[in-house]
Amino acid sequence: MQTIIGKDVVKSAQLLREGNVIAIPTETVYGLAGNALNSKVVSQIFNIKGRPITNPLILHVNSVDQAKLYSSEWPEWAEILSMEFWPGPLTLLLKKTGLINDQLTSGSDRVAIRIPAHSMTRELLSMLDFPLAAPSANPFTYISPTTAEHVLKQLGGKIPYILDGGPCKKGLESTIVGMEEGQIYIYREGAVTAEQISKWLGPIKIKVKNDEDKSTEAPGMLQKHYSPYTRLLVTEDAISWKELGHEKKLGFVLYNSPAYLFEEFPCVVLSHTKDPDEAASNLYAALHALDAMGLDLIIAELMPAEGIGRAINDRLRRAANS
Ligand code: TXA
Ligand code: MG
Repeated sequence: MQTIIGKDVVKSAQLLREGNVIAIPTETVYGLAGNALNSKVVSQIFNIKGRPITNPLILHVNSVDQAKLYSSEWPEWAEILSMEFWPGPLTLLLKKTGLINDQLTSGSDRVAIRIPAHSMTRELLSMLDFPLAAPSANPFTYISPTTAEHVLKQLGGKIPYILDGGPCKKGLESTIVGMEEGQIYIYREGAVTAEQISKWLGPIKIKVKNDEDKSTEAPGMLQKHYSPYTRLLVTEDAISWKELGHEKKLGFVLYNSPAYLFEEFPCVVLSHTKDPDEAASNLYAALHALDAMGLDLIIAELMPAEGIGRAINDRLRRAANS
């Protein structure tokens, strides 16, 4: 199959109506999208991504009213968070209605829903009479794509069309939030920070899952995830690893350490002004670029563990866990 990159929203809508799976831009990462109400299409998404059917998909909708069609509850916390952060990088886990097939949620009675903040994808959703299921448009466990070219490199030949909305502004997946027994949890840290959510809901807990925990609450929190093919190591202090450059081909992802000390190495500085949001938006592109260089090892410097820095560190640690 030939994969075309383009900016044609009308054509994208037509392809989706015909039951195709295409890549779409969002403010977080590119999604691998299809009609969430068509089980053949949903199977195709799992297949193309190579994703186990035990790992459910996020539903993308265009309005709060549409979200309410697919969730049988609309608690106050959902009202508050949707008012504050939608459209945007926040996914709500809510009890599903009968319109949502168990296949989409991998058997869970909760469905993950968000309104993405990208004008082309909002326009696309407004043309459709069904919501879009869309996991990140990368093969299972690989780095998420933040440009149309990343998608082409990873899934070229497997989908007919990539709707090109430019580089993703946030660059990190949405934050996933839900409630269990009266307690709000963050199941995946992301572009909306715990601090931002706490401002509205008070103290919240972060529920980090690992591979030993087989519960379905956030099966996507696999320890190995977001990984380049090249081995990756995380460190508080990249400078102490330079010595290893005598033996191995190293590449560096830097945040704190000054780039001039790393001139002899391929290296990407996530933000020259130490802006954590800028670092997030550059993270996956940095990993994609270094992964294409035939290195023995990528060494990534951890960020200060606050706000979006914690979400970046989470992704780096999972990427290192191969
Ligand atoms: O920013 C994002 O969320 C991007 C863009 C494309 O919207 N999507 C994304 O999808 O990151 P994906 O499938 O790569 O990650 C979704 C995560 C997975 O970890 C999955 O396990 C979890 O959400 N998830 C989805 N539905 C769930 C459910 N019903 N219960 C628990 N976790 C769920
Ligand atoms: Mg993903």
